[in-house]
Amino acid sequence: MQESVEKTKAMVQHLAAVNAILEKNEYDPGRLIPILQETQEVYKYLSRDVISYLATSLDVPVAHVYGVATFYAHFSLEPKGKHIIRICDGTACHVKKSTGIQQHIYKRLGLNDDKRTTDDLLFTLEMVSCLGACGLAPVVVIDEEVYGQVTPAMIDDILDKIIAEEKNAKGEE
Ligand code: FES
Repeated sequence: MQESVEKTKAMVQHLAAVNAILEKNEYDPGRLIPILQETQEVYKYLSRDVISYLATSLDVPVAHVYGVATFYAHFSLEPKGKHIIRICDGTACHVKKSTGIQQHIYKRLGLNDDKRTTDDLLFTLEMVSCLGACGLAPVVVIDEEVYGQVTPAMIDDILDKIIAEEKNAKGEE
């Protein structure tokens, strides 16, 4: 019961934030991209419901909003985890076995090529192209922090630390 009250509260707050974004942008369909950007900051992704809501509010077809949201890689139509793990799969990192790191994280977090986000929405894993730090290959970026010459053991330590911090934040043992 308490959980559903919290969810409803969050939903109302999110909707108020989206309405404020629409107002700030004067409900101008020409400002669709900044509206989508700011809305994604609120929800962390763009759900079908929010896309329909924006389309109705801006008086444009849903297909148009959906088309713009899918065109730009910056927009995500799937929920993402709180912590984003980016594995570089550029040439230098690939040679230094970035796919081995990927497989290790897949196994550790129960992910695969079709499932990139954990069920608890704590982690999302992405493969990215060269991050410009090839001398440190293989490179992994977690929450904007860059890790070089990464090994599976290093990944385990970093993930253990994040998971422990999350548990502490929730007041768990
Ligand atoms: S290939 Fe990974 S940083 Fe360049």
